Amino acid sequence: MTNPTRVNFTVNGVPSKVLVEPRRTLADCLRHDLNLTGTHVGCEHGVCGACTVIVDGDAVRSCLMLAVQAEGGNLATVESLGSAESMSVLQQAFQDNHALQCGFCTPGILMTAHALLGREPRASDERITEVLSGNICRCTGYIPIVKAIAQARNILADASRGPHSEDV
Ligand code: FES
Ligand code: FES
Repeated sequence: MTNPTRVNFTVNGVPSKVLVEPRRTLADCLRHDLNLTGTHVGCEHGVCGACTVIVDGDAVRSCLMLAVQAEGGNLATVESLGSAESMSVLQQAFQDNHALQCGFCTPGILMTAHALLGREPRASDERITEVLSGNICRCTGYIPIVKAIAQARNILADASRGPHSEDV
């Protein structure tokens, strides 16, 4: 066994210190050390995208990243988006468009979409489809998911223009 290492990062706005073995994945650290179980682990080798979280603005597969590699990082998990009582625009769009069934893939897809709309708020439907190619859903089908993300994009774009925009 290797000596545990202290890791410091911010998760969902909360500074966190965790003592982990150097081989511990970020996914296991989030789920087992910080009890952020919204991050799902499917394939554990970078294929399914269920474990996607955001690190410093980028969507990353937390099963492929070691917790120690997140030292000093600013992390966001699906728990940062909203709650059942107060859903984010993206979560509400998924509900409106029936964009989930079992929900196992949903945290990873939400975080992939959240990172995309953060980086590219005008992402086209084609771009949304392209980015989603890294996330596997086995039960919903992708049309409702793309529609949901496009709906969120449009709502967020309208909100950013504001009520006095000449574009409206
Ligand atoms: S669990 Fe990480 S990509 Fe599948
Ligand atoms: S909603 Fe079931 S795997 Fe995607």
